[in-house]
Amino acid sequence: MDSILQEIAELKARHHAVIMAHNYTLGEIQDIADYTGDSLELSRKAAESKAPVIVFCGVRFMAETAKILSPDSIVLHPEPEAGCPMADMADPSEVAAYKLANPDTLLIAYVNTTAATKKEVDLCCTSGNAEKIISKLPENQKIMFLPDSNLGRNVSEILNRPMNFWGGCCPIHDRITVADIERARKAHPGAVVLVHPECRPEVVAAADQALSTGGMLKFVQESAAAEFIVGTECGIMHRMSKENPGKNFYALEPVPVCVDMKKITLEKVRNALRDLSPQVELDAETIAKAAAPIAKMLEIS
Ligand code: 13P
Ligand code: SF4
Repeated sequence: MDSILQEIAELKARHHAVIMAHNYTLGEIQDIADYTGDSLELSRKAAESKAPVIVFCGVRFMAETAKILSPDSIVLHPEPEAGCPMADMADPSEVAAYKLANPDTLLIAYVNTTAATKKEVDLCCTSGNAEKIISKLPENQKIMFLPDSNLGRNVSEILNRPMNFWGGCCPIHDRITVADIERARKAHPGAVVLVHPECRPEVVAAADQALSTGGMLKFVQESAAAEFIVGTECGIMHRMSKENPGKNFYALEPVPVCVDMKKITLEKVRNALRDLSPQVELDAETIAKAAAPIAKMLEIS
């Protein structure tokens, strides 16, 4: 075994740690993780976890969610600079001001928000459960969906339900165009086109399926098709190829890459376990207030 892998294994055993990794992280990170998944699956794992130490490999809001759901554990985020640009598009003070000015509106935050913003909202959702959660709300309930207006619009269309949108987006998914999809279809006729619901509505309309990263992995495993065009961050193709050896996966061109997800490296995981740092630090009030909309989400979904 590589010496760094050996070191990580020893440190992990010494601290009784678990490693959680998002589907977009580097392949070598996914390979050492105890759990790899989408935002919803990882939230559920964090909520169930009894591990004293969680090493969270993903972007900062995901590590914060793990800390909120497992407050007694040490949550290590190996690279604190790995953030999600979309999460920073919903500023907590602006969200608080909106809430004050619109007391009759339910604030639904995509889980891609900071803990400080989650404190201000009524309910959270992920791309894997947004449709289900919103469909359970009374028909006349006014909604502000933040920060991702693409996900919001896609859900609003499926459910035929008007909502207000904050105006944020994922720069990586928002960049994908219908022309990218058409070029890929031409290069790989017959391949099933999968996209993430963070893509623009016209891109979702041009695809065959719009699914969370966990949903895509499940779809690919259950599908009889042998070829897939992958309209999301390229890191997911590691697991897709590994779990489906007989199937072919093609990235879009230009290849969608989330540079923040790639900031988590084996060296940083080793250092975090060795030093028990950097830890996600959230005050008790933030944990208590931000836990409420996430707990409601987990209860409904
Ligand atoms: P998933 O919950 O589908 O994994 O999405 C998270 C994300 O950040 C997508 O860009
Ligand atoms: Fe954020 Fe987009 Fe990266 Fe997902 S892919 S973590 S939404 S920037």
